[in-house]
Amino acid sequence: MGSALLAGWREQGLTQAYVIDPSSDAQSLAGPGVSVLPEAGLLPPDFIPHAVILAVKPQAASAALQGYGHFVESAVFVSIMAGKTVRGVAQLLGGNPAVVRAMPNTPAAIGQGITVAFAGPNVSNIQQELSSRLLSAVGSVAWVKEESMLDPVTAISGGGPAYVFLLTELLEQAGLDQGLPPDLAKMLARQTVIGSAALLAASTETPEALRVAVTSPGGTTAEALKLLRADDALPKIFRSAIQAATERSRELSA
Ligand SMILES: NC(=O)c1ccc[n+]([C@@H]2O[C@H](COP(=O)([O-])OP(=O)(O)OC[C@H]3O[C@@H](n4cnc5c(N)ncnc54)[C@H](OP(=O)(O)O)[C@@H]3O)[C@@H](O)[C@H]2O)c1
Repeated sequence: MGSALLAGWREQGLTQAYVIDPSSDAQSLAGPGVSVLPEAGLLPPDFIPHAVILAVKPQAASAALQGYGHFVESAVFVSIMAGKTVRGVAQLLGGNPAVVRAMPNTPAAIGQGITVAFAGPNVSNIQQELSSRLLSAVGSVAWVKEESMLDPVTAISGGGPAYVFLLTELLEQAGLDQGLPPDLAKMLARQTVIGSAALLAASTETPEALRVAVTSPGGTTAEALKLLRADDALPKIFRSAIQAATERSRELSA
C-alpha cells in the first residue's frame, strides 16, 4: 500500500522523499527524489518533513515508530494502519502529534482507490489539506468527523475489493457447474465484473437502474435475482457480513 502511494506521488512530480523500510527489496523504490533507508535514524539530521506516512503493518507499529518522535513538532503523521487509533499512534510517538488516520483500499495500486480519513485533534487545516493532497494521489478521498466511522468504512471499502473478487470466483465456479469450459467460465466471470464496474463508472444511472435495465420481467436474470433475494437471503448475509467485519475492526482498534 505504501508503494502504491509512492507511485501516485511520483506521477504527480514528487520532489523529495525518504522511504524507511528495512526489507532488502525496498531499494527498488529508490529513484529521482526518493532515497531508501533501512531506519529513520539514518535520515539527514537537518531533514524536517512536512508529512510522515505510516504504512507498516499494525503489529510492526511500535517498533517502526521509535525513530519519529522528534518530527512531532513539524509533521503531520498520516497512518494507514488498519485498526490503529489516533490515540494509539499518538501514544507510540509521544507528545501531542498531529495524526490523520486513513483507510485506503487496494484499487489504490492503479489510482482507483477510495480513502476515508479522520483528522485527530492536533491536525491544522493546512495539514489536513496536505494529507488530502497526498491521499488523493491514489484515488478519491472522503473525510469523516468521527473516528468510529472508520470501523464500518473498513468493512465496506477497505474489505470491499475482496467481496467483489469473491463474487468473480463464485460466478466462475457457477459457470463450471453449468458445464462451461474452464477458460470460458473464467473469461466470462472476469469480464462481466470488469465491464459492469466500467459501465457503472461511465454511467450517470444508479446501480439499481443499471440492474433493472438487465432484468426483463419473467426473464432469466429475474429468475436468478428471485432466488438471490428469496427470504431476504443475499441482503441478510451482506448485512451480517458487514456487521461482523465492523465489529472485528472495533475489536482490533487500539
Ligand atoms: N492491503 C490493504 O488492503 C490495506 C488496506 C488499508 C490499509 N492497509 C494498511 O496498510 C498497511 C500496510 O499494509 P500492506 O498490505 O501494504 O503491508 P506490507 O505489504 O507488509 O507492507 C509493509 C511494509 O513495511 C515494512 N516494514 C516492516 N517493519 C518496518 C519498520 N520497522 N520500519 C519500516 N518499514 C517496515 C515491511 O517490510 P517487510 O516486508 O520486510 O516486513 C513492508 O515492506 C497496514 O497497516 C494495513 O493495515 C492495507
